[in-house]
Amino acid sequence: MAKLHESVTPEFREWIAAQKLFFVASAPLGAEGHVNVSPKGHDCLRVLDERTVAYLDLTGSGNETSAHIAENGRITLMWCAFEGPPRILRLYGRGEVVLPGSQRWAELSPLFEMLPGARQIVVNHVERVQTSCGFAVPLLEYREERPTLQRFALSKGEDGMVEYRREKNQASIDGLPTPLAATFED
Ligand SMILES: Cc1cc2nc3c(=O)[nH]c(=O)nc-3n(C[C@H](O)[C@H](O)[C@H](O)COP(=O)(O)O)c2cc1C
Repeated sequence: MAKLHESVTPEFREWIAAQKLFFVASAPLGAEGHVNVSPKGHDCLRVLDERTVAYLDLTGSGNETSAHIAENGRITLMWCAFEGPPRILRLYGRGEVVLPGSQRWAELSPLFEMLPGARQIVVNHVERVQTSCGFAVPLLEYREERPTLQRFALSKGEDGMVEYRREKNQASIDGLPTPLAATFED
């Protein structure tokens, strides 16, 4: 059964830190728009306080979450236990996109280990903390992180990644602009 909690408690913080994977969901407002869900690995997520979590977002072929946040602010993060006692945790909130070079970036980026391909920080200002049972989630054993995304970023190099983002990250698949798009205007 779903259960609501006051905040991201120290116990949740510890449990979140032990998870190897989370999912981020967002959607455009338009009824025809595509609902996105993305899996995120690597040590990229930090609990900032009992109402705020953030992750370092790495460059990929799409930029859906960012575009949806810019349009309507909605974001949900979800973790589920693949080992140990079952649990699903959903943090529903309002998103904030933090781009490199901003004052906010200077404030938040030291909290993360900078990974190759870092593109932005996505902050979730949490409004609803909800757990549910997770009894139907399989037990899986963690082996290792894939090196593929970082290899991809390193092989392209800094300039190559800027070019890649210019080409692929300025709009969502439904054509909504991303905050990153403004950095290419001139
Ligand atoms: C080499 C490579 C690796 C990728 N790996 C991931 C990944 O692990 N997780 C992910 O969400 N997206 C990954 N992507 C990008 C996705 O395909 C997706 O377009 C993008 O993440 C959009 O969702 P987001 O805005 O929520 O990140 C990868 C893209 C490339 C080119």
